[in-house]
Amino acid sequence: MINSSSESILSNWGELVEENDPIFTRRSIRRFSGREVPAELIGKMLEAAIQAPSAKNRQPWRFIVLGGEYKAEFERNMERGLMREENGEPLLPRSREWLPDAWNTLRIIREAPTLIAVVNANGKPPFVPIDSDDRVTELCDTLAIGAAVQNMLLTAERLGLGTLWIANTCFAYTELTELLQTEGQFVGAVAVGYAAEAPAARPRKELDEVAEYRIRRSAMS
Ligand SMILES: Cc1cc2nc3c(=O)[nH]c(=O)nc-3n(C[C@H](O)[C@H](O)[C@H](O)COP(=O)(O)O)c2cc1C
Repeated sequence: MINSSSESILSNWGELVEENDPIFTRRSIRRFSGREVPAELIGKMLEAAIQAPSAKNRQPWRFIVLGGEYKAEFERNMERGLMREENGEPLLPRSREWLPDAWNTLRIIREAPTLIAVVNANGKPPFVPIDSDDRVTELCDTLAIGAAVQNMLLTAERLGLGTLWIANTCFAYTELTELLQTEGQFVGAVAVGYAAEAPAARPRKELDEVAEYRIRRSAMS
């Protein structure tokens, strides 16, 4: 039975949360205006990122903020990687069908004024085999990094910024890690800028397709 305090919270939940909370209002942005993002706002996003929980409090995330000439170099390396993937030795041969999407992601990266590269400091490149212990560690660290990235995206939304979470950088893994010169596993990037589009919410599966309740209380409790 729902009690009266829960009832009053739920009574204006739609207005309070679903219409205003960044969890519900955030969209992936794929068109950006040319306006630069002040470094202070990127700082707020990163402050939020590092508040995320992490397994054993390992805080495996590392962030590299790229703009200007550094971002242009990233774009050139990603282009080289995508061309190699198309015409040379592909890193991800079975994912070929997604290459047009990766080219579109490169177009978006070029349009966004800032790109935040995201690294798992404890991870290994995805092209080397790992044992079960390392796999579980990697799984936990990846989850923590996902939470950190989501904190960033939600904070960006509150700051009036648009973002795109990017994993298509994986096609150009070799070229991009050569450039970034960072230890660990390069997991992706977040493009940040001022949105030049206001897309509608993308479809979600129905809740009953993805969640089920298994709650049975014993007679004693
Ligand atoms: C891990 C991850 C990787 C993604 N990689 C890309 C990408 O490389 N390029 C892209 O255009 N969108 C990318 N997206 C965005 C998804 O396509 C988007 O979140 C999804 O379609 C739902 O849309 P919404 O974010 O507006 O709700 C990625 C999202 C996640 C969570």
